[in-house]
Amino acid sequence: MSEELSPETPEETEEPIKQRKNGLYPGVSDELAENMKSGWADTELHGLEPIAQARHTADRRAALSARFPGERLVIPAGNLKTRSNDTEYAFRASTEYAYLTGDQTQDGVLVLEPRPEADGGHDATVYLLPRSDRENGEFWLDGQGELWVGRRHSLAEAEQILGIPAKDVRELTAALKEATGPVRCVRGHDAAVEAALTDKVTAERDEELRVHLSEARAVKDEFEIGELQKAVDSTVRGFEDVVRILDKAEATSERYIEGTFFLRARVEGNDIGYGSICAAGPLATTLHWVRNDGDVRSGDLLLLDAGVETHTLYTADITRTLPINGTFTDLQRKIYDAVYEAQEAGIAAVRPGAKYRDFHDASQRVLAEKLVEWGLVEGPVEKVLELGLQRRWTLHGTGHMLGMDVHDCAAARREAYADGTLEPGMCLTVEPGLYFQADDLTVPEEYRGIGVRIEDDILVTEDGNRNLSAGLPRRSDQVETWMAQVKQG
Ligand code: GLY
Ligand code: MN
Ligand code: MN
Repeated sequence: MSEELSPETPEETEEPIKQRKNGLYPGVSDELAENMKSGWADTELHGLEPIAQARHTADRRAALSARFPGERLVIPAGNLKTRSNDTEYAFRASTEYAYLTGDQTQDGVLVLEPRPEADGGHDATVYLLPRSDRENGEFWLDGQGELWVGRRHSLAEAEQILGIPAKDVRELTAALKEATGPVRCVRGHDAAVEAALTDKVTAERDEELRVHLSEARAVKDEFEIGELQKAVDSTVRGFEDVVRILDKAEATSERYIEGTFFLRARVEGNDIGYGSICAAGPLATTLHWVRNDGDVRSGDLLLLDAGVETHTLYTADITRTLPINGTFTDLQRKIYDAVYEAQEAGIAAVRPGAKYRDFHDASQRVLAEKLVEWGLVEGPVEKVLELGLQRRWTLHGTGHMLGMDVHDCAAARREAYADGTLEPGMCLTVEPGLYFQADDLTVPEEYRGIGVRIEDDILVTEDGNRNLSAGLPRRSDQVETWMAQVKQG
């Protein structure tokens, strides 16, 4: 279906669309244009309940306001991105915008306007595209008309739902151009907004805003922890779905696994939180294997790293390495159990007051010990760790912050993240792995092509931690029992 009645190019004009497009729409008679203006019911909604996180988004905006007194702050949701010709990728609002508003509307922009009095805080406004005008024809003649893309909330409805005053986003760029005083903008999401601010902002000051919003997300509030648990629970069900269809994947390819998990993500959540890694056999040694077009063979391992993203944009990030036929071989089990032991040591190091790096160090030590014990690298272990020699096979860091972004808080300063201290409410992955590349001549042949990672989502609590993904078995014998039960049931 093509938009044969929609404009070929957007034009900057206040003229009614029907007049403007005369000639471009030879099929639209004056009579039809007139006819389409009327006969539509009033569907305005009243008395809407605020979204569940409205109280939390207000707290987050208050914290942002306190950090940047007297400055105008501009946080865009972002725009549609072309996939090809006139088709677009699925829209996903920027994390910063969704975190501060709870809204996910394309082209939306949150503006915090400083009140005139010194340290008077800010007034928040969310700029959105209103309902389509039926009088001027945009309802059915414009590419973003509601007849094409579906009903939007009116500005009045959006105000009730979000708890933020709403204005027409088409007025925003002119207002930003005219505005005076210091401004900061979250970059990279909305080129038109950035263009309107180009002579008012600096990269350095904008980066400070991005850093603040990244660090603010490190400690999750109770709403966020609930959403992360929902994301994990859906992901657990998605892994069960995959175990049930492994025979179909053997008959086709890893794509059957990718598609099966995606179905769960779309039915229960918004999407997958990142490209699913469905890596069977030697492909498990490729860290970001997302082509997922390889063969699935009995006797090999499947490394499945996938996460459901909730409707509120919180994602899980879980990895299980599963024997495709349900039973580990002796060597697969030896390597798997070593990674499991490393993960146990890592999870045990997650507690409030611990250095962020502690869990990484604890896992790496176990893996280095195993590699020395197996004769793959010469000891002593202290020397291996000092020189980082284990990293030929452990490859990546042992985890990261998790939240609305799979690699959450990525713009945080080093001292607030990698060199920082764990606090209750932080959520991170613990995901050690061992990867023996198929062409690694430094290991015995039977190791080559085996990749194992185990990844769980760990919440720092007041007195230790809670494994949000404990619903998926991790110990090798429990994995086998679970797979057998899921296949039967
Ligand atoms: N799924 C990406 C990661 O584990 O970091
Ligand atoms: Mn991860
Ligand atoms: Mn992962």
